[in-house]
Amino acid sequence: MVTSGDMSEVDGGSRSALVSVRKQGPITFVGLDRPDKMNALDQAMCDELSEVLRRVRHEPSILVLHSTTPGMFVAGADIAELLERDSEVGLRGVNATLFEALESHRWPTIAAIDGPALGGGCELALACDLRVASARSRFGQPELGLGILAGAGGNWRLSQAVGLTLARRMLYTGTTLTAPEAQQAGLVDLMVQDENLLLEQAEDYAASVARQSWRALELTKVALRLHRPATTLYDMTAQALLFDSPEKKERMTAFLDKQARRRAERERTTEEDS
Ligand code: COA
Repeated sequence: MVTSGDMSEVDGGSRSALVSVRKQGPITFVGLDRPDKMNALDQAMCDELSEVLRRVRHEPSILVLHSTTPGMFVAGADIAELLERDSEVGLRGVNATLFEALESHRWPTIAAIDGPALGGGCELALACDLRVASARSRFGQPELGLGILAGAGGNWRLSQAVGLTLARRMLYTGTTLTAPEAQQAGLVDLMVQDENLLLEQAEDYAASVARQSWRALELTKVALRLHRPATTLYDMTAQALLFDSPEKKERMTAFLDKQARRRAERERTTEEDS
């Protein structure tokens, strides 16, 4: 496994095991590259993203976060890893800390979403300043069904974006929003009908931001953050408590068992077909 800091330079950008970085003028494209698990965020990917954020903080640039594979954004935190995390790890707030760092990027950030943005994936999108999404994207916070909470910003960034009423519905019932619904709710800034044009449109959007004064953008970001009602300390403590609960273990094990059964079924069908 390539570890953080172990990124190789490629065509003026860089590539590690799970994250690629491509700089194009004033825009830096950060590509999430774990397609076999729908870009589920594990510790390795969080480490690599943290390293990218550390590296890009010196030179003005608009970040565009996207999947390197079409049809997905991020299907949440890695449930197999979450199952193993106990309260000790919970108190480190792996995703919450990463998303705070993302939110603190000195210049605006844009999530380019094409597919499921669920759990930590929705929180990752929310930690960006702006969201551009293809029409087939969907957004949700299914954490409560897994016995945990949306502790990496979902509890407060979601209500900031869509209002308390809809945030409650999404969190309490696991309701997923389609892209048009998310746009209507204010979660998506720009919806792109043709998913093939998503990155192009995100680039245009980023370029329109990059035309502003870098210094004024930076200071405006600071001003907007002054009003944020962060509950991060509470979220991390509550999550640590839930990480040790038997119910979380049961619910996540049930999810993983179901996935394993589906995988076995797929492999059996493939063998029969060949
Ligand atoms: N953590 C770990 N692995 C995940 C994952 C997650 N959050 N989300 C998806 N994956 C894996 C699946 O297990 C599968 O891997 P496998 O074939 O090795 O078992 C692979 O990604 C593809 O997922 P699959 O479910 O087969 O694709 P799908 O198109 O049928 O469904 C989702 C996509 C996103 C709807 C579905 O995977 C899902 O519900 N994921 C969990 C979402 C979630 O609850 N996130 C919050 C976590 S806190």
